Amino acid sequence: MDNNLFIALEGIDGSGKSTQAKLLARKLEETGHKVYLTFEPTNGMVGSVLRNILKGNIKADERTIATLFLADRMDHLLNEDSGLVKKISEGYTVITDRYYFSSYAYHGTHMDMDWVIACNKMCADILRPDLNIFIDVAPEISMQRISANRQSTELYETLDNLKNVRAKYMEAFRKLGDAETVVSINGNQEIEAIAADISALVSKQTKEKRRL
Ligand code: ADP
Ligand code: TYD
Repeated sequence: MDNNLFIALEGIDGSGKSTQAKLLARKLEETGHKVYLTFEPTNGMVGSVLRNILKGNIKADERTIATLFLADRMDHLLNEDSGLVKKISEGYTVITDRYYFSSYAYHGTHMDMDWVIACNKMCADILRPDLNIFIDVAPEISMQRISANRQSTELYETLDNLKNVRAKYMEAFRKLGDAETVVSINGNQEIEAIAADISALVSKQTKEKRRL
């Protein structure tokens, strides 16, 4: 029986998602899993436009941005060559650095979250994560990490916005708690301690899936 998982890592900017995604991928590979590590916004056609918007090179209305993220996600799922539906069917455990909860949190600060959830329903129907892992970091700590490691900041990377985004993540988890598997991890710890928590969580989920 298939026991390859679809795992989404979520959190505010600078929460350590990409660091933890890489560590988890390595750990799973060491234990014999085939792993496909990916991220949103993607490097595909729509993802490239989004990166230019995030850098401030292109201006766009928040509603346009929200729908571009949806288009990018559809391609991420359905692309004939590298789509996640295909990867899952090939037996890969897929780890994505951000998925639709990012849209609920980031766009739900600018427009009605229920609209963003409704727009993304088709993605949930196509591929719902076995596990959404929320790396919960204090916005002040995230901002320190971002400023210490980068010369410039992106569209959403201000302390006030990160506080709002964290609050919106919580709102989305409350709204969708029955439909989604979400686990929050304390991201204010050392990198290795967070990795150990995530690894334990994923092992538990793999065993549960095997039992189904
Ligand atoms: P994200 O993908 O969520 O934006 P990153 O993994 O890129 O976050 O981490 C942002 C920065 O913080 C990186 O420079 C990374 O090395 C550092 N970092 C990540 N996790 C931790 C941690 N637990 N403690 C201290 N610094 C961290
Ligand atoms: P990302 O490259 O993951 O940034 P970081 O490594 O700093 O977390 O994501 C870029 C930005 O895209 C981030 O500010 C969150 C935003 N975003 C949305 O606004 N909506 C979405 O649906 C997704 C996936 C990301």
